[in-house]
Amino acid sequence: MAILIQNPIVLRSFVARVILFALKKEGEVDMLFYLFDCYMMILSKLQSPKIISLEQLREERYASVLCYPHYSAREAVGRIRELNRLGVEAIEFAGEKTAFNVPVLGKGCVGIVVIACMKTGRVALKIRRMDADRTGMEHEAEMLAKANSVGIGPHLIGISDDFLLMEYVEGVLLPKWTANVRGRESRKRIRQVLRDILEQCWKLDEAGLDHGELSRAPKHIIVDAADKAHIVDFETASIMRRVSNVTSVCQYLFLGSQLAKTLQKRLGVTKSEVLISALRDYKQERTSQNFLGILQACRLT
Ligand SMILES: Nc1ncnc2c1ncn2[C@@H]1O[C@H](COP(=O)(O)OP(=O)(O)O)[C@@H](O)[C@H]1O
Ligand SMILES: [Mg+2]
Repeated sequence: MAILIQNPIVLRSFVARVILFALKKEGEVDMLFYLFDCYMMILSKLQSPKIISLEQLREERYASVLCYPHYSAREAVGRIRELNRLGVEAIEFAGEKTAFNVPVLGKGCVGIVVIACMKTGRVALKIRRMDADRTGMEHEAEMLAKANSVGIGPHLIGISDDFLLMEYVEGVLLPKWTANVRGRESRKRIRQVLRDILEQCWKLDEAGLDHGELSRAPKHIIVDAADKAHIVDFETASIMRRVSNVTSVCQYLFLGSQLAKTLQKRLGVTKSEVLISALRDYKQERTSQNFLGILQACRLT
């Protein structure tokens, strides 16, 4: 509650959410959420990003993010040294998520993702959480490198015990992108993005790399300003498991999620029996013909 009162932006967004919740009952939900997202975007643009040098990172406020969620001054010093060795010069705290009230790009069970500044430019830095059930980042780096070899995922830049550096994908998570896309071309643009996602999943299937978290992927597909989709987070990916990227993502996009419902509203209903049958064929025999059958069932051809 104290955070709410002290921070005017959090307070305003809380008030806006409450108003929206009340209005939601009256209908016109999509429009209201669209206006709300615009409002939040303007607020986040007004908030100037904080660029913090490695020296300043020692301050507890920022070091807590480096050691999320268990701050330790000793651990922070070690991690700052690790960043220095990786060639990181500063951290830019910006984004719509927060860790201990500091803005970040994203937060998951394993990592906190922030923008890092290097000589070569801005990159994404995944910080291993202190409570993560992983001892290092090598597995994720290996899986991401494998995805990169077939042109998928943010480019891997560097890795250490507690960090993974990769290309910064500047964009919006798929559910929000879908909710915000407006105008005459919107259906066409949504279809192109969905097709792009399915084709990337097909490439991953062909490469024998199973992402592992695509059946519920509200936070794992980012769409950039050029409408290009980027699949992120190869932390649970595997080359040992049977691949199910195409079938999992279809489940998420067309059959069983909040996004599937939104997409049906925007694009019309996908006949689930037809899609399920196409997915069954593809599961039995992973051929390009059967993949095409899925695209057709999703009306993406
Ligand atoms: N390369 C990237 N560029 C921009 N944002 C990213 C990038 N990688 C991850 N993110 C954001 O950070 C969030 C958390 O990252 P993720 O890899 O999913 O962490 P975890 O393994 O802990 O789930 C993602 O949902 C996404 O919003
Ligand atoms: Mg994740």
